[in-house]
Amino acid sequence: MPSKVKKAVFPVAGMGTRFLPATKANPKEMLPIVDKPLIQYAVEEAVDAGCEQLIFVTSSSKRAIEDHFDKNYELESLLEEKGKNEILNIVQGILPKGVHCVYIRQAEALGLGHAVLCAAGVVGDEPFAVILADDLIDGGNNPCLKQMVETYENEGGSSVIGVESVGADETDKYGIVATTDLGNKIGRVDQIVEKPKPADAPSNLAVVGRYVLTPRIFELLRNIGKGAGGEIQLTDAIAQLLEYERVLAYEFDGIRYDCGDKLGYLKATVEYGLKHKGLGEDFRKYLQAFCVS
Ligand code: UTP
Repeated sequence: MPSKVKKAVFPVAGMGTRFLPATKANPKEMLPIVDKPLIQYAVEEAVDAGCEQLIFVTSSSKRAIEDHFDKNYELESLLEEKGKNEILNIVQGILPKGVHCVYIRQAEALGLGHAVLCAAGVVGDEPFAVILADDLIDGGNNPCLKQMVETYENEGGSSVIGVESVGADETDKYGIVATTDLGNKIGRVDQIVEKPKPADAPSNLAVVGRYVLTPRIFELLRNIGKGAGGEIQLTDAIAQLLEYERVLAYEFDGIRYDCGDKLGYLKATVEYGLKHKGLGEDFRKYLQAFCVS
């Protein structure tokens, strides 16, 4: 049996330039989709997949993330005094029991690979998950990371990266994989390249923000130089990992919203708004009236 995936790394130290000026003082990961920040959706997905330790790789402008998952005595006693028990329960339930958080600073935004490497000391010699919170994935009753952890376990502990098909003209925004089909939405990764031009892309299967990785990736990240965009790229380390281990690409079930992008963020807001328990019906009526007017 492969070791259990109990740790999840959340690299949240990026600059969020596509969302400026909203992200000048506020972390991109704290942007709300209806009533929850993106990072909370990501944490819920990790917990649903069985992760117990949540490792956030942050930077100086991301303090709000730490505060969000910390206890707020003043707010809680105020809500208690006012008898607002429903909201109090929501606030107290942000972090499920038995789950704990670790925060590590990435002093300079040297790239996603560097951010993941910052977590090496806390992860140690174990498999771990990586979630990019700005890729919000609605997996319905079967959250994306849970599907991937199951694939990791069923496939003998190989690294698994989440992929989906993108338009042929969009390959230069993603890591792109070439695979050999193994059935059940799984492919063995033969090649992985960061942001290839459409003419150079080996396929249109794009890596999105979900990974289950074996700890060998840290050794490789330590020695890797700067890649595309002058950044230390996780994709380049995965390309080297292929020389030592089998890596699988998994086409998850679910809808992904690129919430680091304004249009993707708006789509997620509308669709999560329509599905929201307390709000969905009224929002649908509003949208219907708005669209015919
Ligand atoms: P992005 O490529 O989305 O970069 O990073 P970004 O800075 O967040 O956003 P834009 O493109 O400038 O708008 C992918 C993920 O890697 C993290 C980001 O926080 C995001 O989750 N990241 C990136 C780091 O943690 N550190 C880095 O040095 C770079």
